[in-house]
Amino acid sequence: MPTMPGLDQTARAIVADGKGILAADETVSTITKRLTARAIESTSDSRRAYREMLFSAPDIAAFIGGVILQDETIRQDSSTGIPLLELLVGRGIIPGIKVDTGVHPLAGAPGEFVAEGLDGLRARLEEYHELGARFAKWRAVFIIRDGLPTAKCIHANAHALARYAALCQEQGLVPIVEPEVLMEGAHALEQCEDVTGRVLQAVFNELFDARVSLEGMLLKPNMVTAGLRCARQASVDEVAEATLRALTRHVPPAVPGVVFLSGGQDAVLATEHLNAINALGGPKPWKLSFSYGRALQDEAMEVWQGRREHVPAAQRMFHHRAGCDSAAALGSYSG
Ligand code: 13P
Repeated sequence: MPTMPGLDQTARAIVADGKGILAADETVSTITKRLTARAIESTSDSRRAYREMLFSAPDIAAFIGGVILQDETIRQDSSTGIPLLELLVGRGIIPGIKVDTGVHPLAGAPGEFVAEGLDGLRARLEEYHELGARFAKWRAVFIIRDGLPTAKCIHANAHALARYAALCQEQGLVPIVEPEVLMEGAHALEQCEDVTGRVLQAVFNELFDARVSLEGMLLKPNMVTAGLRCARQASVDEVAEATLRALTRHVPPAVPGVVFLSGGQDAVLATEHLNAINALGGPKPWKLSFSYGRALQDEAMEVWQGRREHVPAAQRMFHHRAGCDSAAALGSYSG
């Protein structure tokens, strides 16, 4: 596997000390659900105003190394007429782009999904690079239920992730490889650890076969938790230990950074989990940081309410949570 100097550098810069990623790449339909749940109208302009509120929050560049955009946002201008992407670049934040086109039912695997978007991907990556994106994201999902995920679902998604990652590197973009074992379900922590381990192993086998440079990528996994409907919820320390064990067993040390998704965890708990993982002893050869969507945004969106006069307060809320997650990425969060 060749190393790729430019890509290595970008990957390491995104997760430089105390920095993580803001995942602001919700599709129009997903962000519309989140806005309308708070009685905020979702129009192309309100979505732009919302993203601009986040991206222009004062003093966040010490905490946020990269922001993941989606197709609408990467083409939008700020209220002052500069592209939103340029606003980020001007603040020293690296812009990225979601490139999977969503999950679809996997034929022959009832109840399971495969992430799609490989057709025409090379040309799309070329265009996004031209627009200024320097990394990309592809999310696959796995469901834990009786007999699920199947080996077929794990293999199909791992293979697609590897094809995506190889194409990204060919086009000069750092791939974020996101295999998400969903928290929905009644499963115990042990089942999540087992499935997460099998998924990660399959993903790295495929990345190896696809000759993806591990130094030039980031992994975005779930933390190992009990399912949301499990009667016995694990403690913060149990989550941290199981998560680090899964990474130690299945993620090669050449990967520069592991940036967790929040997956529906409450914002404070997501901070506490990340901090506990970083506070554990033992070898941790990768940066362990965050690439949170909901856990970074929910509190700020609640304050914003779509109102211009709420922007400074919403930005303070976002700054506060990003600061907590930054401290957690260093293992120095203290509540
Ligand atoms: P959450 O942190 O809300 O899970 O979002 C992260 C993400 O990018 C999901 O693809």
